[in-house]
Amino acid sequence: MNISKRAQQITQSEIRAMTILCNKVNGINMAQGLCDLKVPDVVQTGAKEAIEMGKNVYTSALGEPYLRAAIGETLTRNYGRKIEAGNVLVSNGATGALYCLATTLFDEGDEIILFEPYYGYHVSTLESLGCKIKYLKTLPPNYEIDFDKLEDAISEKTRAILICNPSNPSGKVFSKEEMSRLAEIVGKNDIYLISDEIYEHFVYDGLAFTSALSLQAIKERVIAISGFSKIFSVTGWRIGYAICDESIISAASEVNDLVYVCPASPLQYGVNQGIKYLPKQYYTDVARDHQQKRDTFISTLNEVGLAADYVKGAYYVLADLSSLPGDDDKEKVLYLLKKTSIASVPARAFFSDPNGINLARFCFSKKEEELEEACRRLRKNL
Ligand SMILES: Cc1ncc(COP(=O)(O)O)c(C=O)c1O
Repeated sequence: MNISKRAQQITQSEIRAMTILCNKVNGINMAQGLCDLKVPDVVQTGAKEAIEMGKNVYTSALGEPYLRAAIGETLTRNYGRKIEAGNVLVSNGATGALYCLATTLFDEGDEIILFEPYYGYHVSTLESLGCKIKYLKTLPPNYEIDFDKLEDAISEKTRAILICNPSNPSGKVFSKEEMSRLAEIVGKNDIYLISDEIYEHFVYDGLAFTSALSLQAIKERVIAISGFSKIFSVTGWRIGYAICDESIISAASEVNDLVYVCPASPLQYGVNQGIKYLPKQYYTDVARDHQQKRDTFISTLNEVGLAADYVKGAYYVLADLSSLPGDDDKEKVLYLLKKTSIASVPARAFFSDPNGINLARFCFSKKEEELEEACRRLRKNL
């Protein structure tokens, strides 16, 4: 088979691999980052109505103007910086939005700085474009950034720092001070700050979330990525967006046009109805419910000897599987699947060097009954 070098570089993610194994044993899939909320009624009904209204044809490659305006208004309200429709590119999920922006901004050989543990798609997306990634380790429990090391890592080829806030998989929520330091460094070095904020509403313990969009001093240098997959539980709809300076938008929309043509028309209408009609309470309830799920699941992990810290945001937890049989994280995760039919992700998926990693990532955004069943199985079988 003549498979291109580029395609050979793109391999199946550990997450998909574990999902396939989980389906084979009809297990509880805590590997994949699905959000198990009910899709809000207004969102569902909106999409159905849109199909009936005839919203079934191509839209602008920038996304529907009404949705771009609604996203801009919401972010302006939430983060205190004026975001116009002209700053918004609606794409095929946050994944599509990042792909478009990275293709628009970076050339082969450009360096991007990422913090470890990282979200694998960030790495794959950048590497598929020939970017070189520089990893900076951050460590539990607070995953603090070593700003001296960060400054040392910046070279002439560095084009951006990419953060995931709140972080998948560590749950780190960047503090206001950390965001200010990042802004200083980004401004001084004339590089971009890309901030994946898809978990912006999943923040716990009353912590404040500081969006990169609030960093006025570097507003031309900020690319925020987010979307509706998680908050409206519509991962299969593929509606996400990038916020950036208006000067980049047109070029990014050309990439969006080339790869996806446009985001799905009726689904843009569906999420717009959600933005328009869901009260503030919807978002606070989602955070509160997830905090409870976090507490339930992480206390069980610790009870059965799989040590884990209470995450501050997002809905994943890295747990220490050292106490389980197996030579490495992969073997331990398979043991756990065999013993409990619970699938998790071997944490090598989030580190550049798999050696010595005994962690696994669990997604706790599950329906209550399923989460309780997972806890029961862990208690019974470990
Ligand atoms: C950090 C992060 N960004 C982006 C995504 C994907 O978002 P979307 O479904 O909008 O492409 C995920 C999904 O797990 C994620 O964890």
